[in-house]
Amino acid sequence: MLPLVFVVVLSWVFSPFAAALSSDYYDHTCPKAESIITKVVKKAMMNDKTVPAALLRMHFHDCFIRGCDGSVLLNSTAMNAAEKDGPPNISLHAFYVIDLAKKEVESQCPGVVSCADTLALAARDAVALSGGPSWNVPKGRKDGGISKAGETRQLPAPTFNISQLQQSFFQRGLALEDLVALSGGHTLGFSHCSSFQNRIHNFGTAHDVDPSLQPSFAASLRNVCPMHNKVRSAGATLDSSATAFDNIYFKLLVLGKSIFSSDEALLTATTTKTLVSKFANSQEEFYTAFVKSMIKMSSISSGGGQEIRLNCRVVN
Ligand code: HEM
Ligand SMILES: *[C@@H]1O[C@H](CO)[C@@H](O)[C@H](O)[C@H]1NC(C)=O
Ligand SMILES: *[C@@H]1O[C@H](CO)[C@@H](O)[C@H](O)[C@H]1NC(C)=O
Ligand SMILES: *[C@@H]1O[C@H](CO)[C@@H](O)[C@H](O)[C@H]1NC(C)=O
Repeated sequence: MLPLVFVVVLSWVFSPFAAALSSDYYDHTCPKAESIITKVVKKAMMNDKTVPAALLRMHFHDCFIRGCDGSVLLNSTAMNAAEKDGPPNISLHAFYVIDLAKKEVESQCPGVVSCADTLALAARDAVALSGGPSWNVPKGRKDGGISKAGETRQLPAPTFNISQLQQSFFQRGLALEDLVALSGGHTLGFSHCSSFQNRIHNFGTAHDVDPSLQPSFAASLRNVCPMHNKVRSAGATLDSSATAFDNIYFKLLVLGKSIFSSDEALLTATTTKTLVSKFANSQEEFYTAFVKSMIKMSSISSGGGQEIRLNCRVVN
C-alpha cells in the first residue's frame, strides 16, 4: 500500500492537459510535418511488419515515464543509463524510424517539431496504417532532458492485478475505461516468453498453469516457451492478427486466450469486464474509446519538457 501523500504527489506530477496542446500547433510553422512523418512510417512498415507495434509501445512507454516528453528516445551516456536500457526494454525497437522521420522534418523546418510530437504522430500513423482508426493528434509537446533506466520500474508489469493496474493508470489521470481501451493496443505485436512465464509454469501452489487460460491455448504457449527456455527470441503474438489493428484481442480475451495476467485481470472487475464485452462485440465502440483514451494518454505531462531536440537521441 503506497502512502496517500505519495499517490497525491504522483497524480499531481503527471497531470493530463498540463501543457496546452493543440491540433493546429504546426499549421504555420511546419505544415508538412504530419505528411512527412506518415510517409516515413508507411515506408518503414513495408520493410518491417513489426514497426507499427514497436512505435505504439514506444509512445506508451514514453508517456508513462515523466509524461510524453521523448525521454524514451534518449541514448544512454557515459554518466547515465537511459530508459531504453532499463529492464523491460526487451520489446523496444525501431528507434531508427523516429530518427528518419525527425531528420526529414528537420530538413523542412529546422528546430520546430519536438521528438515527443514526432513519436505521438508516428504512433497514430502506426495504428491507422494497420487498419485502425485515425485521429487528430494534439501537438506542442516539448522534449525533456532526463531519462533514467531505473524509472522503467514505474511501468505497469504484465503480472499486475486489476487494483495495481487501476492505480498505475489513476496516477496518470487515466480511468478504468482508459485502461481497458488502451489495453486493446495489444491487438498489435509480440511478447517474449519471460513476460508471460508466470502464467504457464509454477503459476501457484494449486495449479502449474493459470486456470483462466483456455487449455489448448495454454498448451501451445508452453510448447513455444518451455520452463527452461533457451531461445531468447521465443514468444507469442499478442493476438491472432498481430499486424492488424482490430478488436480480436478482446474476442480472444473473453475466450481465455490472452497473453498477460494484466490482460486477464480486466475480466476480474465488473466495470472492466463489461467494457471488455462491449469492445469484443463492437469494433466501432472499441475504436471510439481507443481514440479518446490515446488522446488522454498522449497528453500526460510532467512539465519537464523544455526543448525541441535536434537529434532525438541526445539533448541539445
Ligand atoms: C495495461 C498495462 C500494460 C502492460 C502490463 C503491458 C505489458 C506489455 C508487455 C510485457 C509487453 C511485451 C514485452 C515483451 O516481452 O516483448 C507488451 C507489448 C506491447 N504493448 Fe503493452 N502493456 C500495457 C499497456 C499497453 C498500452 C497502453 C499500449 C498502447 C496503447 C501497449 C502496447 C503494446 C504493444 C503494441 C506491444 C507489442 C510491442 C512489439 O511487438 O514490439 N501496451 N506490453
Ligand atoms: C545511440 O545509440 C545507438 C545504439 O547504441 C547508436 O547506434 C547511435 O549511434 C547512438 N546515437 C547517438 C547520437 O549517440
Ligand atoms: C536493453 O538494455 C540492454 C542492457 O540493459 C542493452 O544492451 C540493449 O541494447 C537494450 N535494448 C534496446 C532495444 O535498447
Ligand atoms: C493485487 O495485488 C496487491 C499486491 O500484491 C494486493 O495487495 C491486492 O490485494 C491485490 N488485489 C486484488 C484485487 O487481487
